Amino acid sequence: MCGIIGYLGYREAYPIIINGLKKLEYRGYDSSGIAIFYDGGYNLYKTIGSVYELEKKISYNIKIDEKKGTTGIGHTRWATHGIPNDINAHPHVSNSNELILIHNGIIENYHAIKIFLSKKGFIFNSKTDTEVLVNLIEYIKNENQLSLEEAVRISLNEIIGAYSIAIVEKSHPERIVIAKLGSPLALGINDKEFFIASDPIPFLNYTRNVLDLKDGEMAILKRNHELDLRKITNNHKLSPSIRELHINLKQIEKGGYKYFMLKEIHEQPKTIFDTLRGRLSNELICIEGIESNIDRFINAKSITIVACGTSWHASLIGEYLLEDFAKVPVEVEYASEFRYRNPIIEEQDIVIVISQSGETADTIAALKLAKAKGAFVFGICNVVGSFLARNVDAGMYTHAGPEIGVASTKSFTAQITVLFLLALKIGKQRSKITHDRYKLLCKELGSIPEKVRITLKIDNIIDTISRNYHNVENFIYLGRGINFPVALEGALKLKEISYIHAEGYPAAEMKHGPIALIDEKMPVVIIATQNSVYEKIIGNIQEIKARKGKIIAIVNKGDFQVSMLADHIIEIPTISEELSPLLTVLPLQLLAYKLAYIRGKNVDQPRNLAKSVTVE
Ligand code: M6R
Repeated sequence: MCGIIGYLGYREAYPIIINGLKKLEYRGYDSSGIAIFYDGGYNLYKTIGSVYELEKKISYNIKIDEKKGTTGIGHTRWATHGIPNDINAHPHVSNSNELILIHNGIIENYHAIKIFLSKKGFIFNSKTDTEVLVNLIEYIKNENQLSLEEAVRISLNEIIGAYSIAIVEKSHPERIVIAKLGSPLALGINDKEFFIASDPIPFLNYTRNVLDLKDGEMAILKRNHELDLRKITNNHKLSPSIRELHINLKQIEKGGYKYFMLKEIHEQPKTIFDTLRGRLSNELICIEGIESNIDRFINAKSITIVACGTSWHASLIGEYLLEDFAKVPVEVEYASEFRYRNPIIEEQDIVIVISQSGETADTIAALKLAKAKGAFVFGICNVVGSFLARNVDAGMYTHAGPEIGVASTKSFTAQITVLFLLALKIGKQRSKITHDRYKLLCKELGSIPEKVRITLKIDNIIDTISRNYHNVENFIYLGRGINFPVALEGALKLKEISYIHAEGYPAAEMKHGPIALIDEKMPVVIIATQNSVYEKIIGNIQEIKARKGKIIAIVNKGDFQVSMLADHIIEIPTISEELSPLLTVLPLQLLAYKLAYIRGKNVDQPRNLAKSVTVE
């Protein structure tokens, strides 16, 4: 998955493209490149590394004049085909040097096309599928004497896979052709300019008028401001539907924090409040997507939740809540596994798909499979207008605001909040939860934003712990019941940003193998809040102590028993067990952040990762 950007207008394209790429780096940052077009030619710059490296390379080596031009395209890469290096970086150029292409996605049948084109004499410099596509377009264009747009259209009909592309012809820099299938592509439009990007954020300073290209659509953009929208399969002309985007620019800036991740952790009192806004009032839970499908939820025989990564951890918490409050059997599946087996889904079943981005390839494939099997598909998603949001039968937005840090934080707590609302609502409608319990939990849910704010004031203890353990190679995270998925999430956070190996386990499962790892060097983070398994957790702590492991315990304020045993304690406010994941995860997020920070890692852009995984 990658970020793509393009500009066609009257301003200099270079600063728009380079600054836009910086905002798209959450999609990939192992290499990047741009092409700036002038009449009759273009300049191409590519490099391994981040957009910062690209900018550095350009400002050292390139004359100002070379950067001038009012048409430009740019790309920031997360490698799929071919290692990250200068040659595999985009844009890719066709053999005749006439066509220049950027691409986000994956061409599944590229190998067969490459063999075909090689036999026709085409030479390939890179290992990418994109270079195959740009040469296929050139071949079809020249063989059939076609316009660029028609050659693109016919070529795309030969392609199996996913793409969003932008292509420019060297001799016609007054035109950009764009197309989309599977991967996202937004087109920003104002009086005299076109902006293209994988999401609208890079061009928000210039325009709020956005056309979201749909799958199977392409557009021909011209400098005279002509916009020609077409269907890729049959070339039918389409009428563009433009929406106005309402987004506060402050939401996508760092606001004084060193990293987006830290800012997003500290935003959680507000984001959870926003998730609840208009949905919880006293004891009333009002959710549009459920009200209008209430019979489906009342009669559901079973619910399957599919997701990936952090969203999968939130799903596990959803399983506890839905089974507890609504007494409906729930299965949680990795989207990547669900899509490749033949799951038994019956008509009265509900499939819930959860994704922050709404564009994770495996989750989207699972969504399509569930629909094909006749399930009612309910979506939980953060990105408004994403593929997931547009293709489910009903759903709820998490309203966490843009999440830029690759490590998910605020989207996790927003997802749990939505699942909590959902489970309470269905439980009430199915008469499976007593009125008193329902009432109490609604009240406590309303108090969560303030409790989150209090919980986050633990800088000192997080600092001390991080300084003690930043050199270790392994961590273990333990939790039980509804806090077992939180242990998994804590371990994931640590792994992905600090590169310290970490494992999450249900605490009692320790005895069945992992306990062999415990020695005096092993820090064990254990969620030991007061709940139905508190005494059992104390037993687990004793077992670790007996083997000299170091205990970092998350406890309720005023806890005595665990505090006597632990090496370090992190206190959180008291809350019902069912809501506790919303608080217990916060120290784990902060701990992962701090350890990564002390180890000098780029917290927002961990190696090998990208914000949305749009390849399977
Ligand atoms: O956008 P999604 O929620 O579908 O993304 C799924 C995972 O890729 C994601 O949760 C990933 O595990 C997190 N960024 C990890 O912090």
